[in-house]
Amino acid sequence: MRLSRFNTRYPFHPYPTGWFAVGFAGDLKPGDVRPLRYFGADQVLFRTQAGVAVVTDAHCPHLGAHLGYDSWVDGETIVCPFHQWRYDTGGKCVHVPFAKSVPPQAKVRVWPTAERGGMIFIWHDLHGAEPQYDLPDYDESRMIPGAGFRKLHDDFGAAHPQDVFENGVDFAHFPGVHSTGRAVANGTIRTEGHRFASPVRILPAGYEGPVTGVDVGSTVDSEVIGGGLSRVESRTPSAPGIVTVYYVSVTPVDETLSHYFVHQFFLKDDDCPMTDAQIEHFTTLSREHGLKEQHSDGKIWPYKAYVEKPLLSAADGPILKYRDWYKQFHPEVA
Ligand code: FES
Ligand SMILES: [Fe+2]
Repeated sequence: MRLSRFNTRYPFHPYPTGWFAVGFAGDLKPGDVRPLRYFGADQVLFRTQAGVAVVTDAHCPHLGAHLGYDSWVDGETIVCPFHQWRYDTGGKCVHVPFAKSVPPQAKVRVWPTAERGGMIFIWHDLHGAEPQYDLPDYDESRMIPGAGFRKLHDDFGAAHPQDVFENGVDFAHFPGVHSTGRAVANGTIRTEGHRFASPVRILPAGYEGPVTGVDVGSTVDSEVIGGGLSRVESRTPSAPGIVTVYYVSVTPVDETLSHYFVHQFFLKDDDCPMTDAQIEHFTTLSREHGLKEQHSDGKIWPYKAYVEKPLLSAADGPILKYRDWYKQFHPEVA
């Protein structure tokens, strides 16, 4: 494969701007500490006793120990395993054993952190700019407990987040890759700054009728939020009153690997006509199907090239419009 000046198959920088998942909220209990490696750098993720998830650069400014190995959480601080300097949630060193004062420059860099949809996100900007937007809040209070799945894939190669989220507007891949009926636009695309919403209808296989102003098949409302997250809501006639939600976030580890985080769960409308048994049947099937379907796209990504000027046909979705919108998340580099 031909490599670009970034030493990747893509003609843009491997580390876009935005919020990116670094873990699942439910896997990090108060007091837990995890070493991380994202954006070609080392970090540590921990949860304080009060429940705050914190990500800082990994290496202690004292003598360089990694804060993700053999360290521990004490209250709202993390304690370095080497000489037990303590850092608070703002990255400031607040205690040096046997010393009366703390060197004022003793600080570790803190990555802005947020939790949404059962995932922990960090803000990344190549040039270190503060977050330019917050992640939106969705009403997910009607979540069906215990259903769905969450999974981290490290087997999808070095797919750039832009390439992965292009899937949502790639109408022509649905029938072949996902064995669905034909996909068509279901209303207009809404782009609002860092948000790109594209409503799609998946027609029943073999359907030949009109495609606009009809209520047939499933609806898929996917939204890409900044450079690192996509959230998808879908409804299908076989499960009235149930919304299937996916969060997918793609986080570059370095230019040779991306982590693909996916969380599937379900929301139930108040007037959902299904019985508990029917709902359980549907969510169990959807979970199995969803786990498998990640590989349907995932098996393509490691080996595909990035075609800058694709040969698009009438069956293709608004791929160029999407790429144009995504440009804002590519950092400027000389
Ligand atoms: S290296 Fe962290 S306290 Fe010394
Ligand atoms: Fe797909």
